[in-house]
Order: sequence, then structure tokens, then C-alpha cells
Amino acid sequence: MKKESFYVTTPIYYPSGKLHIGHTYTTLAADVLARFKRFTGYDVMFLTGADEHGEKIQVSAKEKGMDTQKYVDGMVDEIKSEWKELDISYDEFIRTTDQKHKKAVQKIFETLYEKGDIYKSEYEGWYCTPCESFWTEKQLKENKTCPDCDRPAHLTKEEAYFFKLSKYQDRLIKEFEENPAICYPVSRKNEMMNNFLKPGLDDLCVSRTSFDWGIKVPFDTKHVIYVWFDAVCNYITALGFESDNTDSYKKYWPANVHLLGKEIVRFHTLVWPAILMALDIPLPKKIFGHGWILFDAGKMSKSKGNVVYSKPLIDRYGIDALKYFLLREFTFGQDGKYTNRAFITRLNTDLANDLGNLVSRSIAMIVKYNKAIIPSIKEEGEFDSELREVATGAGEKVENAIDNLDFSGALEEIWKIIRRSNKYIDETTPWILAKDESSKERLDTVLFNLADSIRIVAILIYPFMKNTSEEICAQLGIDEKDIKWDAIFEKDETIAGNTVTKGRILFPRLEIDKEVLELEEANNKYMQLL
Ligand code: MSP
Repeated sequence: MKKESFYVTTPIYYPSGKLHIGHTYTTLAADVLARFKRFTGYDVMFLTGADEHGEKIQVSAKEKGMDTQKYVDGMVDEIKSEWKELDISYDEFIRTTDQKHKKAVQKIFETLYEKGDIYKSEYEGWYCTPCESFWTEKQLKENKTCPDCDRPAHLTKEEAYFFKLSKYQDRLIKEFEENPAICYPVSRKNEMMNNFLKPGLDDLCVSRTSFDWGIKVPFDTKHVIYVWFDAVCNYITALGFESDNTDSYKKYWPANVHLLGKEIVRFHTLVWPAILMALDIPLPKKIFGHGWILFDAGKMSKSKGNVVYSKPLIDRYGIDALKYFLLREFTFGQDGKYTNRAFITRLNTDLANDLGNLVSRSIAMIVKYNKAIIPSIKEEGEFDSELREVATGAGEKVENAIDNLDFSGALEEIWKIIRRSNKYIDETTPWILAKDESSKERLDTVLFNLADSIRIVAILIYPFMKNTSEEICAQLGIDEKDIKWDAIFEKDETIAGNTVTKGRILFPRLEIDKEVLELEEANNKYMQLL
């Protein structure tokens, strides 16, 4: 049977500085979604990449005294090795300097020009180089600063091409009114409607002449195409749109979900859909602008010295711990504050105490009371059906939560099984049952129920924490090939008879105050090396 396709994207990141855990956050979320969809039987395309053109990149290369292409090549290698370290399961990595992308963007530009949706005029207004955004004087904040990033904007006047964004205003309003998925969460949708759509959209300047690092306008080569026009098109050029091979485009477009941070929702829910409307091709099915991870002194910045990178965190605690923390601690649509203390505390409570403890206690009891063999169900008793309901009912809830991009909610559902199982141990007191030969049948059932709950947990966490899932399965004697989504709905006692093996401690308990200090030191050391 042909699998249903699922296409998920991250923003393509600027290769102008080292990526921090803000970037990691979006990419990890996309990775979990992609892994989950593959796990539940979809044919997945997970796209990420690098946004390599524009004034900012050219300036960064110049500051380093480097040739721009060489500079981006080096930075892109770094991004790729970062994703490798984090075991990001992307299927394609698009670079906007790829020939295939450049040619397709030129074609798109030409098509819209011929259609009359792009026209030549003159731009006079303000520009924020770090955001690569045009602003009217009215939109600027006090002291002529950018409304998005608060940095100074500068006045520019140049001959330019414009995209008729205003022409699509009514269609966009209709889309916003009729299709909730055009912009999630609702708060950001309202913001777009009230701040941009209702006051009226201006046409968008889509070319620059004051620098040359970009894709040339094919019929007027002193212009380079505006970096945001170039960038948003990656979502279709990566699939081969306007190339010799459009198979992937046919298979995966429209995208199921574009994931991005809230500051670039405007480009994704207004400009990008309008370009697609102009091209007469379908809009993405869902656009989600998640919140920001904030730090002690507000948004991360190198000058404030409050940047957090993933490397020291994964070196100390592993990829699974970082993934778990980022997706559990913060509600995906909202801002949240990162602190080392919050990180360590979650590791301790959820991973070491709840999950780690459940696995080590249960395995130890099976070793001690049943010669390391998982027994089968014999004498049913109190609490069994409640535990089983929580465990077998979680799959559907987890799937729903992930489909709604509620990663934190999905993990909470899984942790309900873990907490219920730990409580089940306290309620059934296997160590007391073990003292009395006549309770052996009850003890067997309790041990089976625990092992089976852990099996379900291990499968459910697979898309989030692959390594931990595999380690737990190995301890339960489950083969890697049997880690399958459908197995959580199995009613048979498939693991009865398996031999369990004690493994290493999955997540060691940490002394919070001491650990926070050590982590700070490790972060500082890492920053000095950069
Ligand atoms: N190149 C553009 C995107 C073009 S997409 C067609 C860009 N790049 S970026 O390198 O600045 O990355 C911005 C994205 O990184 C955000 O939209 C978000 O996905 C992620 N984040 C960067 N900092 C972040 C936080 N502090 N918190 C959460 N996400 C953050 O914009």
C-alpha cells in the first residue's frame, strides 16, 4: 500500500554565526515530528537548510576578511555537523546557493514579472539589516529602531522591483478568516490580521542594488533578489519545483507543516502565501509560529553573554535529555525562560526519579524475584486495570497531541504512565508479595504489568528519545526491530518469557546546586573556546 506523504520544514538558518539552542529548539521539534510520522507509517520529507544570501551575510564575511562563498561554505559545514551531533533526521538540506535553487527562484521571479505581479519602481524607506526587513517610518519604534529586533534601521533609496502584495490582500483575509491552520497559534493569527492585514498591505520590495550577494534578477542583473523572496521559495525549490525533476514536488507539496519562530510569522503567513497564490499553487496546510526561548537577560545575544549552546549540554547529559527538556518544559506556542536550574531540576525529577527509577526498580525486581524472566499474567488484582488503561490509552492521546504540535502535552501523557506505574509499585508492594510463596501468582502478574507498562513507555518515547528507548528495550529483551508503533496496541503478552538485563543507570540523580555550578562552568569554558 502506498504510504501517505508528510512534509515538514524548519526555517533555513542564516549561516552568520554559531547556532544556539533557540535554533536547536525548532530543529528538534521538527525532528521529533518527522520521526513520529515515520514511526506511524508516513512517507516523510523533513527539510532544513541554510539561508545564505543578503546584506548581513556579505557584511559578516567581509568582517572576517573572507570570500563570501568560502565563508558560507565553512559556516554551512558547521551547521551540518551541529545537526549530526544532535542526530537530526533531516531528509534534505537546502542551500540557497545551490544552482538548482537559484535557477528556480529566477524562474519564479520571471513568471511573476511576466504576469505583472512584479514591477519596477523605486524604494524609499527604512531597512533593518539584521532582520533583512523593510519598514515604513510609521512602523519603526522610537529612535528609528526595528520593531522586531530593536536595532537601528537605516534609510535607503534605490531603484527596485516590487511584488504586488496588496493585490492578494483580500484573498489573504479570506484565508485568515476561513482557514485556522494558515497561522497557529491563534494569538499570532490575530496579530497578523490586526497589525498587517486590516490596516492594508503595501507592495513588497523584492530586489536590492546596493550590494551584490544574492540571486541576480535574470533580466536586469544589477539587481539581486530580496533575500526573503529567495528564502521562502526554498520550501518548493528543495522539492524540485521549476527543475528537470519535479517528482518530489508532486509527492510532497503542499507541505503539511512549516515550523518557525514567532518573529518570522509575517513572512510565512502573508508574503509566502501571496507568492504561492500568484504562482497559482496550493498553500501549505499548516504554519506554526512557536514562542521564543528567553534567557536571563531577555533574548539571547552574544554581547549580553547569555547565549546557550547545545554542545556543553549534550556532552554532559546526552541528546535525549536536551530534547526531553526543551520539548517538555516549554509550551510550543509560547515564550519560555531557559535556566540551568530548570534544566537540571527536570532531569532529576522526570528523567532520574520518574523514568530512571521505574526502569531500574522494575528490572531489579524481575531479576531478584523471577530469575530475570518476565512472567506472564496469572492472578489479577486491584490496581491492574487502572494501570493498563493508562498505559494502553496513551497512544491515541500522544498521537493527537503531536498532530497538534503539543509536544509538552504528548510527553505529559507518557509520564502519566510512568508516574502511575511507580505508584503501582508502592500499592502492590512486590517485596512483601515475594516473602510469601502463596503470593507468587500475584507477584508474577505485578511484575508482568510493570514490564509491559515500561515496554509501552519505551515505544512511545522512541521519536523523542531514541537512545533511551532502545536502551530500555534492550533491558527488557526486546529486539530493535520490534520497536514499532503498532506494538503499543497489542493485547498479547508478547514480552512474557523475555530475559531482562540490568543496564547502566539511564539518568543519574544530580545534586542540583552543585550541578548548576558545574554546568555554568562548562558553558563558560565552551564559550571561551569559540
Ligand atoms: N533565514 C531566516 C529564515 C528564513 S526561512 C524561509 C532566519 N534565520 S535565523 O537563523 O535567524 O533563524 C531564525 C529561527 O531560529 C527562528 O524563526 C526560530 O525558528 C529559531 N530561533 C532563533 N532564536 C530562537 C529563540 N531564542 N527561541 C526559539 N527559537 C529561536 O530568520
